[in-house]
Amino acid sequence: MVIRNSFGLVVALIGADAIKAGIRHAFVVMTTMMGIAAFCCSTSAAAHDRADKQARDDMRTDVDALKAIRDGRQMFRMNTFGSEAFWGDALGLHEAIAGSSNGGVGPGLSPKAALSLGLKVDVEALPRSVRRAVQNGQIDLDDPGVTLQLLRLDAVVGVTGFFDNSRHIRSLGIQCALCHSTVDDSFAPGIGQRLDGWANRDLDIGKIIALAPRLDPLTTLLGADADTVRTVLRSWGPGKFDAELVFDGKAFRPDGKPAATLIPPAFGLAGVNLHTWTGWGGVSHWNALVANLEMHGKGTFYDPRLDDAERFPIAAREGFGHVRAEEEDLITPALPSLHIYQLALDAPKPPKGSFNGNAAKRGRTIFNEKGQCATCHVPPLFTEPGWNMHTPEEIGIDAFQAKRSPDERYRTAPLRGLWTHTKGGFYHDGRFATLADVVEHYDDFMDLGLSAREKADLAEYLKSL
Ligand code: HEC
Ligand code: HEC
Repeated sequence: MVIRNSFGLVVALIGADAIKAGIRHAFVVMTTMMGIAAFCCSTSAAAHDRADKQARDDMRTDVDALKAIRDGRQMFRMNTFGSEAFWGDALGLHEAIAGSSNGGVGPGLSPKAALSLGLKVDVEALPRSVRRAVQNGQIDLDDPGVTLQLLRLDAVVGVTGFFDNSRHIRSLGIQCALCHSTVDDSFAPGIGQRLDGWANRDLDIGKIIALAPRLDPLTTLLGADADTVRTVLRSWGPGKFDAELVFDGKAFRPDGKPAATLIPPAFGLAGVNLHTWTGWGGVSHWNALVANLEMHGKGTFYDPRLDDAERFPIAAREGFGHVRAEEEDLITPALPSLHIYQLALDAPKPPKGSFNGNAAKRGRTIFNEKGQCATCHVPPLFTEPGWNMHTPEEIGIDAFQAKRSPDERYRTAPLRGLWTHTKGGFYHDGRFATLADVVEHYDDFMDLGLSAREKADLAEYLKSL
């Protein structure tokens, strides 16, 4: 009886929907159902009413979690949170993409140019006929009209075009996946299957925003003219974005380099307390902040720390810590599943052969002992369980970025999946080009006295995480 009820519940909650979504999803659900059924079999052997109810309650939790993960995946990939009012309606980014030959402005953005700016194409969204045409060279990758076609197919990762009845693009919104997903290049460079949670270190988001014909919302916010704003945006470079710029208006560091930080991974976050390079808050805090204040979606956000007019002059003036949805709140209802999805994304394991196993084993001992790395990067989280924050002095770097955040500290970066984001370097601003450079920094700063071989072993271990 338990088994029949269980199947009924699973099918009712997710089964029919999943089967509609396609064979692959159905397979996942089938295997899940088989797992649950096997579990139920073992309990049904000792069947009595209480166990029966417990099993059903537990399974409902399992099914709800699975459903939340699937909803969250959809939010992460597809929800623009109403951000088209900003990127499209206000900035006119879609007009620059379309180009004058398609009713927009300027030369337009060809697929080739879009790929070179780090935008990615989801091969699963391309019909077989389109894939074949690309493979046969029958599609003109220099034609901005093709970019519009890709947008119509919902094939550009993290970007959604809105089209009118006569198939003209009328607006454009963005998603989390724009910065926090990439593709596996399985079809062609920049075209493949989605890898959610991976930092897109190819994405030159500054250059993309700089294409917009109208920058008024940003010039007003920053109190700078359009040329200056474009110069700042173009200074960021691939894989970087400056989330704090619209709070404090600081575009450059004291040494003249751009103030932008690297896009971090959004996987492997379960169990990690504070997030972002400077530990602004938990995953859900930052999700709400980003969706409201960075993506310019329509929602509600509260953080009175942004009222600090000395540290965050723009945010304080604009009331960024007290955002209320004027009409429908499109963000708050998405937060629970969005949160669960990110916690469910595990850090991917490094491919076989990408590191030397014996050296990594020796490196592990150095990490835990002589290198003292594990005092902060506590395995298996590789950050501190608890308040995972440190002063700039503790890690031997300058305080510029730390001071742009409420706690004036750097968050101990969780290290799993380092191999997925070697492009752009390490630490918040990519100041260390390689893992060997990071190790060199600690050896020097902490006076570790590591030999050349020990340093190499330690770097090999970092690659294995
Ligand atoms: C325009 C690019 C961009 C978009 C879009 C974006 N992010 Fe981010 N995200 C960043 C950058 C850059 C940081 C680092 C910010 C910092 O440390 O100041 C970050 C940090 C994060 C972190 C912290 C990860 C960690 O542990 O350090 C999470 C979680 C996150 N983003 C989730 C999201 C979600 C969810 C969305 C969609 C609602 C989103 N992001 C949209 C660029 C982006
Ligand atoms: C005092 C605490 C502390 C110790 C000890 C420490 N780290 Fe870190 N680590 C941090 C913090 C904080 C950051 C983030 C720096 C930033 O945001 O710029 C970090 C960043 C890193 C990064 C860059 C991660 C990324 O995503 O860019 C690596 C790699 C790293 N540490 C490895 C090590 C190794 C190896 C050791 C031992 C030799 C070590 N750490 C010792 C606190 C520590």
